[in-house]
Amino acid sequence: MENFFNLKFKSNHKKNGAMREQVRTKYEMVDGMGSEREVFEFSYALCKLLKPAYVLETGTWKGHCALYICKALKEDGVGGKLITIEYDEDKFAEAKETLASQGFQDQSVCVLGDSANFDYSALMSPGSKFGLAYFDCGDREFAFKNVHDRGLVDNETIFLLHDTTIAGNGGSIGVARNEAFRIPNDIMQVKLFINVTPRGIMLGKLNKESKK
Ligand SMILES: C[S@@+](CC[C@H](N)C(=O)[O-])C[C@H]1O[C@@H](n2cnc3c(N)ncnc32)[C@H](O)[C@@H]1O
Repeated sequence: MENFFNLKFKSNHKKNGAMREQVRTKYEMVDGMGSEREVFEFSYALCKLLKPAYVLETGTWKGHCALYICKALKEDGVGGKLITIEYDEDKFAEAKETLASQGFQDQSVCVLGDSANFDYSALMSPGSKFGLAYFDCGDREFAFKNVHDRGLVDNETIFLLHDTTIAGNGGSIGVARNEAFRIPNDIMQVKLFINVTPRGIMLGKLNKESKK
């Protein structure tokens, strides 16, 4: 897949000196905070596959993954929207500007707020749910609980969590793995950990309708 947005990827993620050699050389990252290029591409492919009306991303950072998600939504032309939330004002402004400069105003809503308590429902049509929810912020457990308790996800929603590797594998935030585990199994039944990338991902599904 071409490098759509002229992002400069580095295959050697220097922050994680202990990272296993084969992981270090196989995967590419823009910087220490964003996801791996392969996770951007996976998010793009998931959007192509699911054609969600709404995608949630918690933790916009500089908007890199958001670019890939919006590209998929735009190409599909079925009116899908990304709602992406960031609590750092500077990063929020930078990401909003980046998305606008690439012509993704219609596909994206950038929110300045805390993913643990922001109410997204005013940004969505009544009764609609997130088809894909990507948790890539701190306190993923609370970001999940927030949308679950508000009834904005259901058993059609695909959940994607980033940072699920243990620190020894090169994952920078070992605790995030615990957050993924802390989402109760009776609420999120399917938890598929794919920890081959430096930081790892988890795919999940609810096992019953979300209740308000
Ligand atoms: C790993 S970066 C996100 C990378 C981005 N998703 C990407 O793939 O390019 C995590 C971001 O989450 C933001 N963040 C952390 N906790 C948050 C919270 N509770 N609410 C909103 N944003 C949060 C941080 O400021 C940071 O920009």
